[in-house]
Amino acid sequence: MTAGARVAVIGAGYVGLPTSAVLARLGHTVTCAERDEARFGALAAGRVPMLEEGLAEMVHDAVASGALRFVRSAAEAARGAQFVFVCVATPGRGDGATDLSAVEQVASELAGALEPGAIVVNKSTVPVGTASALERMTGAPVVSNPEFLREGSAVRDSLHPDRVVVGADDRRAARRVGELFSGTGAPLVVTDALTAETIKYASNAFLATKLSFVNALAGLCESVGADVRDVVLGLGYDRRIGFDFLRPGPGWGGSCLPKDTDALLRVAEAAGYDFALLRAAVEANAEARERVVRKVVHAAGGQLSGRTVGVWGLTFKAGTDDRRMSPSLAVSRRLMDLGAVVRAYDPTVPPGPVPSDLEGIVLCADPYDACRGASAVALLTEWEEFCGLDFAKVAGLMSAPALVDARNLLDPAALRRAGFSYTGMGRR
Ligand code: UGA
Repeated sequence: MTAGARVAVIGAGYVGLPTSAVLARLGHTVTCAERDEARFGALAAGRVPMLEEGLAEMVHDAVASGALRFVRSAAEAARGAQFVFVCVATPGRGDGATDLSAVEQVASELAGALEPGAIVVNKSTVPVGTASALERMTGAPVVSNPEFLREGSAVRDSLHPDRVVVGADDRRAARRVGELFSGTGAPLVVTDALTAETIKYASNAFLATKLSFVNALAGLCESVGADVRDVVLGLGYDRRIGFDFLRPGPGWGGSCLPKDTDALLRVAEAAGYDFALLRAAVEANAEARERVVRKVVHAAGGQLSGRTVGVWGLTFKAGTDDRRMSPSLAVSRRLMDLGAVVRAYDPTVPPGPVPSDLEGIVLCADPYDACRGASAVALLTEWEEFCGLDFAKVAGLMSAPALVDARNLLDPAALRRAGFSYTGMGRR
């Protein structure tokens, strides 16, 4: 079935909403269930409650053409559906274990509500072995179809995926799910459910390891006097290595890489396998964040007690309004622990009432205001707008113009001309 299937998507979050819009664009009829009242209300009123390039237009088009509608419950969405996608959050519980309560809740709602012959498709990231547990709970065949989209480019990634992975013991069911995405032209990997679930963790663990490698490389470059940007250039032309995912930063964050690496370590431990390499990548990530903290302390004159630090960027990367496990927040909290007053600006965070995850941070209306009286400013999220600032004006607002560019976003020569002492990541 290349188009025209009746599909339900349970969950309208960072994965469920782009998935719904893309399935509708591929020619299927989609009913998306969202039980959170505020989010459902926004969608029903035609608003897309997240920052995701191109998503609002795609959702509006799909709703206007009748290919997408929103309902409140999983059971309602499953009515008449041939395929039911589960796209709900599976947060970490802090000890590496995964909180599966949302998935289990959906499974219990679906049991008894599914049409005869319906296939359940799990997109939520779950511990290896969860698909068979879901089969027992729902009484339906379950196909694992891991998601590889990135926040901020979810629409592009879903319309043009590098591959589609479908895993089930019932390979016919897996293939039928794969065919739903045939309009993307992506290669299809058909496998068993355990392997598909492992592929998801392996992808994120590999990406995390790659980032830890480049962040460590930046540290090495600083020690030997090399420039990491040229090192990456020299590496990237080797097609076996490539250029992607080799930008040094203040450590990797977000709602997926930290949670999934912890979860895979736990899965490995439970299975009796010592995944020492991945553990080292996770430890190196904490070290990468701490290196940025040390740079800021140094830039501010050696200690932070009673000093003000400006912070540019709070989200875990640019292009999203998501701050879950943001390296910027981790660094900001450490700076406050060391006695600094943190004044922060992020284009997605308006000044005013301070959300609980930003407690203690002074929220500012623009990047200039964040630097007022600061002994150092730390650029922690790579928002484009930071490139076009009037740096002479920034320098004039600070008590001493020192900048730590944790994303290597800015031009050191231009900053030095504006009177700054500049510190990047792995740059001479
Ligand atoms: C990640 C994966 O990239 C997706 O393939 C996957 O589908 C998703 O998790 C998921 O499991 O749902 P995402 O969390 O949106 O996507 O974020 P990434 O773009 O992977 O970035 C993760 C972190 O690495 C961010 O803090 C980012 O700033 C950092 N990063 C990324 C770098 O520091 N340098 C880079 O070159 C790339």
